Amino acid sequence: GAQRAARVLELVRAVPDYPGPGITFRDITGLLADGEAFGHVVEALGDAARAAGGIDLVAGMEARGFLIGAPLATHLGVGFVPLRKAGKLPPPTDTVTYDLEYGTATIELRSGTLPPGARVLVVDDVLATGGTAAAGAELVERGGGVVVGLAFLLELEGLGGRERLAGRDVATLVHVES
Ligand code: PRP
Ligand code: MG
Repeated sequence: GAQRAARVLELVRAVPDYPGPGITFRDITGLLADGEAFGHVVEALGDAARAAGGIDLVAGMEARGFLIGAPLATHLGVGFVPLRKAGKLPPPTDTVTYDLEYGTATIELRSGTLPPGARVLVVDDVLATGGTAAAGAELVERGGGVVVGLAFLLELEGLGGRERLAGRDVATLVHVES
């Protein structure tokens, strides 16, 4: 409930002007280190995922999406698929390149990991501009999967993430003004 959400928020440290001026970094280290709160996060995201219905696999965005997505997958009793930053996986891979504020980023999926039509939940720690998550969803589709929804621990409001993911089923546990 609301009390648990408040506890989760309390454990996420806001670091002003990191990694650059005007950016507030959301550090989830303290949350991960709190067994009870971390467990609650996994359970609550699991409830949201079950509501979205019929999930075959959880896909996590490197790196912090792995920390939430992998325990969520085992909690749901399904497998986990890492969506990796470029250059970490041996070939063959499927790739998606997307724009950042400065430059581009590429993410990769081991080709053939997803059974055709697999129903996939895309998971990350934070939804900010939505660029990372939108690319993750596109990559799952490129790999032959169906994106059932996207789930996040924390949503930073006012950065356009929701709009970027318009038309997709998005679940977030806690929200903050950014
Ligand atoms: C952070 C965060 C999300 C993403 C959110 O990842 O973990 O993945 O940014 O931002 P967006 O909605 O604007 O795309 P980051 O790439 O900083 O690195 P990490 O997860 O590897 O630590
Ligand atoms: Mg990340």
